[in-house]
Amino acid sequence: MTSPVPAAAKRIVVLISGSGSNLQAIIDAVNAGRINGKIEMVISNKDDAYGLERARQADIPGCVIRHTDYSDRDSFDQALIAEIDSHSPDLVILAGFMRIFTPEFVNRYSDRMLNIHPSLLPKYKGLNTHQRAIEDGEARHGCTVHFVTEELDGGPLAVQAAVDILPDDTADSLQQRVHTQEHKIYPLAVEWFCNDRLQLVSGQVQLDGSSLDSQGYQFTE
Ligand code: GRF
Repeated sequence: MTSPVPAAAKRIVVLISGSGSNLQAIIDAVNAGRINGKIEMVISNKDDAYGLERARQADIPGCVIRHTDYSDRDSFDQALIAEIDSHSPDLVILAGFMRIFTPEFVNRYSDRMLNIHPSLLPKYKGLNTHQRAIEDGEARHGCTVHFVTEELDGGPLAVQAAVDILPDDTADSLQQRVHTQEHKIYPLAVEWFCNDRLQLVSGQVQLDGSSLDSQGYQFTE
């Protein structure tokens, strides 16, 4: 009897702009052997992104492609594409990358690019999600991992985690609890993608071959 050949580790490129705490959660899951993948490159559009230091400490190559060095969005995206494609990635991970892409960029990676957004999408696309949820008197808030499409924060939802909004919550306290959930569901979604369990098929998110409903997989502890 022959044992099954293990699937090849997926090649991953991560894009960041800031602290990189989600990057760290994914690095930790790779190092723990949970994610069948290798982060080939971390790309930042900002020189001072702390995520670059996290990559360096984990012996992962990092580079900076400054959007300010390019005259328009298209030429910046072309530079990003050249760097990303040089690593032949199976998966492109947006982990707090604060730029809006051209349609060409998004379509190039359409079934293999994930983002995490700090809200229960489709609610609260865009910025200041925690404050907006509190001001609206919402009972719950949370975070979502989704595939990326041309619509900002609008792609098909893969995994969601909710937290209760407490009576004395501020945007900061709520953000901290949501961040804790982000660090759970992003590695989980990447783990599933790298095991070919999570896929985008004809615009539908599938887990283990079955379509998820439009809110994605609801993560609970
Ligand atoms: C997270 O809140 C994520 O939801 C949003 O950007 C933030 C990135 O945080 N897309 P970090 O850099 O991973 O700490």
